[in-house]
Amino acid sequence: MNTVLLDMHCDENVALITINRPQALNALSSEVLEDLNNALAQVCANKDIYALIITGAGEKSFVAGADIAEMKDKNIDEAAAYGRLGNQIFTRVENFRCPVIAAVNGFALGGGCELAMACDIRIASSNARFAQPEAGLGITPGFGGTQRLARLIPVGVAKEMIYTCRQVKVEEALSLGLVNKVVEQEALMAEAIKMAKRIASNAPIAVANCKTAINKGLQTDIDSAINIEVKQFSECFASEDQKTAMNAFVNKEKVEKFANK
Ligand code: CAA
Repeated sequence: MNTVLLDMHCDENVALITINRPQALNALSSEVLEDLNNALAQVCANKDIYALIITGAGEKSFVAGADIAEMKDKNIDEAAAYGRLGNQIFTRVENFRCPVIAAVNGFALGGGCELAMACDIRIASSNARFAQPEAGLGITPGFGGTQRLARLIPVGVAKEMIYTCRQVKVEEALSLGLVNKVVEQEALMAEAIKMAKRIASNAPIAVANCKTAINKGLQTDIDSAINIEVKQFSECFASEDQKTAMNAFVNKEKVEKFANK
């Protein structure tokens, strides 16, 4: 992989994917998308990883969007294929088998904002900026922006951001719930790792089932959503970790490490 770095810290159950194309502000070329997809496949296959962080290289940009130079001459069919590819990968992030934290270290524009929104949680550095600038480039957001932004923040604000293309600073992003937390740039990775480790310290099957219940439940009516929760909840009782944790509680003991079984 030329454009993505992958660090797996199996002893800590945390993996880090870094989009590494800082000379183009980590813009998503086809090569970056392919490398990101490969990195996701490797993390997915490693059952010792319980939480994943995605960030961008450098101090200026998380991801400055899809690669405009590569995109500019596409015809309708090529654009549809590109949109499907980006959406397929970002949906893979959204449905990833463990929580994914975006450590947003600067510009999160277009495809960058869309990648951050496909993650479960966003922590941003104080210089981060969020925008969907596509309408100014003669296109709509193409990797899920019209859908995830409108679900994540009030729909009127999402529409305003998309129609005006304005950049949102971190204070506003925090007040909108677009980011969970804001820290100084130098503290960003430590904060993301701390949160990832905290997630990884809980029962991984339970955390994964929580994620499935929330994600699937949000896509349906409340009665069906409650049934999804019942399924995810009850299935936890087939896990060794549930028995270990509840026995530890009644015996006033602490679980040192979950077995992921
Ligand atoms: N695609 C390709 N190259 C990009 C890029 C992008 N999205 N964003 C930045 N770059 C490149 C620049 O072309 C430049 O390359 P050169 O040094 O070879 O000229 C390099 O990164 C540095 O960028 P700038 O010189 O422009 O840096 P700046 O500090 O002056 O400006 C910026 C920073 C405001 C982020 C500006 O680069 C910018 O506006 N970038 C484009 C942002 C954008 O419109 N993103 C949306 C893309 S469309 C999309 O993402 C569609 C979708 O939903 C799938």
